Amino acid sequence: MINTNYSNLKANYLFSTVAEKVRAYSEAHPDADVIKLGIGDVTKPLAKSVIEALHKAVDENAVAETFMGYGPEQGYGFLREALAKYYKTLGADVDADEIFVSDGAKSDIANILDIFDKNCHVVIPDPVYPVYLDTNIMDGRQVSFLNANEGNIFLPMPEDLMSDAQPDIIYLCSPNNPTGACYNKEQLKVWVDYANKLGAVILFDSAYEIFADKDGLPRTIFAIDGARTCAIEIASLSKTAGFTGTRCSYTVVPKELVRDGQSLKDMWFRRQSTKFNGTPYIVQRAAEAVFTEQGYAEILENIKLYQTNAKIITDTLDELGIYYTGGHYSPYIWLKCPNNMSSWEFFDFFLEKAQVVGTPGEGFGENGKGFFRLTAFNTPDRTQEAMNRLKEILK
Ligand code: MLT
Repeated sequence: MINTNYSNLKANYLFSTVAEKVRAYSEAHPDADVIKLGIGDVTKPLAKSVIEALHKAVDENAVAETFMGYGPEQGYGFLREALAKYYKTLGADVDADEIFVSDGAKSDIANILDIFDKNCHVVIPDPVYPVYLDTNIMDGRQVSFLNANEGNIFLPMPEDLMSDAQPDIIYLCSPNNPTGACYNKEQLKVWVDYANKLGAVILFDSAYEIFADKDGLPRTIFAIDGARTCAIEIASLSKTAGFTGTRCSYTVVPKELVRDGQSLKDMWFRRQSTKFNGTPYIVQRAAEAVFTEQGYAEILENIKLYQTNAKIITDTLDELGIYYTGGHYSPYIWLKCPNNMSSWEFFDFFLEKAQVVGTPGEGFGENGKGFFRLTAFNTPDRTQEAMNRLKEILK
């Protein structure tokens, strides 16, 4: 017997569909100079401190005295301690013992569902990162949506829930993928109070927190009073430190998070120690280097460059008078397709007329129809070139 829930999924994962279309276009136009502002993959290489830590860890593995085999299930103490200190700088008290090191936020977002019942009622913002919806469809859970739209500047609140059923699991992503919108502390406090009142659990995706480094915005849900009894946070080094290919993430499950008499932290430990053998030692050493003074200064240089790219995009959209959100606290810019085009029409138009790749908004949900996402992860030159081409084709 197979899992028939899979027949309820769209045929392909969003980014696979986009990649396939781009491959077909490039094959048909081998000389085309295609600029990719689609999937959020970084272009800056790993920071110097990270590379040094990787080399050192590789060498340690070359001799019996320092060779490392299986590591602790939850991640090495050196990295979890470094992360706990990092949380302090973000205004949150998180114990090293509550941090679980893993190989990617995408995997943890999917795997965390193992500790929840299949009958849970799940609430997901629309639009949002498609992994939340797809993984719940795979498990056959009931999903309702939070109506994110221009009216609430793509920051839905509890009153924007499109169902009367009581939520058990609420996904929030801030700064948001794909809209780039970012909740402030007061808004997150409303969510935390709401979840605590209902006994719901917030799954908080903070993969883009480093881009919200201004205006007092919260970079972790644990900076909000009351979050320790209702939230799990999933964070990643993919965008923070360019680990999209290196793979390292961390999930925080606070001790106070208890449901039906069970500690969710203990359940997650049980799940991870059974189904996962940990992130490689060399990668954890590389991740540790990110949180040193030198390493963090180096990664901030890269983030600044991506923020410059975001500004190149938002300046162009301002000049063209196109509505958008994001870009200021996020590497994503979420724009309304020009000339009332649909998301996929604009995708084809932009690719065929300007050889620029973005992501069609409707791949992130119904409310993404007529919208389009660009990323700031390319180089400044290529980003500027893409924007010049956009201006040219819209003349
Ligand atoms: C995105 O482009 O939405 C992300 O890079 C995809 C991911 O993180 O899996």
